[in-house]
Amino acid sequence: MNPDIPLQLLGGITAREFLRDYWQKKPLLIRQAIPDFESPIDADELAGLALEEEVESRLVIEHGERPWELRRGPFAEDAFGSLPEREWTLLVQAVDQFVPEVAELLEQFRFLPSWRIDDVMISFAAPGGSVGPHFDNYDVFLLQAQGKRNWKIGQMCNSESPLLQHADLRILAEFEETAEWVLEPGDMLYLPPRLAHFGIAEDDCMTYSVGFRAPSAAEVLTHFTDFLAQYLTDEERYTDADAQPVSDPHQIQRDALDRLKSLLAEHMSDERMLLTWFGQFMTEPRYPELVAGEELGEEDFISTLQDGAILVRNPSARMAWSEVDDDVLLFASGQSRYLPGKLRELLKLVCSADALHSENLGEWLADEDGRDLLCELVKQGSLGFADE
Ligand code: SIN
Ligand code: CO
Repeated sequence: MNPDIPLQLLGGITAREFLRDYWQKKPLLIRQAIPDFESPIDADELAGLALEEEVESRLVIEHGERPWELRRGPFAEDAFGSLPEREWTLLVQAVDQFVPEVAELLEQFRFLPSWRIDDVMISFAAPGGSVGPHFDNYDVFLLQAQGKRNWKIGQMCNSESPLLQHADLRILAEFEETAEWVLEPGDMLYLPPRLAHFGIAEDDCMTYSVGFRAPSAAEVLTHFTDFLAQYLTDEERYTDADAQPVSDPHQIQRDALDRLKSLLAEHMSDERMLLTWFGQFMTEPRYPELVAGEELGEEDFISTLQDGAILVRNPSARMAWSEVDDDVLLFASGQSRYLPGKLRELLKLVCSADALHSENLGEWLADEDGRDLLCELVKQGSLGFADE
């Protein structure tokens, strides 16, 4: 994607300008980011998704059994009939995994790494509905899909910002409004992490939130060190063959710290391990149980493709690729594979194509490593044959 082409989605600025001036820095209101946008899913279909076992959903009722009552799905069919007329919101997570037309929307965000994108959450609010003033630790693009929503933005927050006493929701006790806008279908608001915001539905209102993944420093440290530790033997330990006589046996001396620092540095600076861990971590599926593979022999696999079958990415799978020295690496749904560099173009195709078939795969099916990789991805569940 050419980063210097003005994008309607970004209000006529280029991806390069957006990243330089707004991304992770300041909000951007974009009128008609997607002109005449019509939601591919309506309120009833969204409510239908919230009944499903595998879908994560929440209802926030401002004046429920207690202020800002939170109910968690899956919901029973009669859950929506008894709601008040006003001031509630239904939120459904990762709708892109269940509605292909919603996943297609993400194609417009290709100016950002796909492994940074988390999911598309969709909310439906009755008039007056909101989830309260809050902040998120992630970037978000809020696309208005139906009805109007009044968005207010406020101060930059952090973990010290005072919150209301609430068991489940992080609602800010203070909100210092700095701007407000009414968004109509097709309008979009980009918010950087930690900016206080508050969206109130003016009528029956649907909003899409394109959310991002960014591991916390604590997650990076704990997960990467857990990952490294799996490969370390018990013999690898603190050593001090260079020890000197001590003047006070109870003192931990500087040289002990230096030995620890070099032990840590030796492992922490292993770039292959860091990349392998990071790719696996960022492609971990939200719902691993939806990435179930199938047993399949390579011969059957090839003949199915040659008979015209089409391979598609499992909507719950996540993929990315990278390179180290002469190797390429494919990350698929939390797993990684080192592969010979000649497969680079195949990895790009697997990560980017909507559909793979004997035509666009071409010569790759004649390549033993290429065939093997594709077959493994089907067995692992990241790719699957389209029904028809
Ligand atoms: C909403 O859609 O109601 C909430 C989205 C958000 O504030 O992150
Ligand atoms: Co938010």
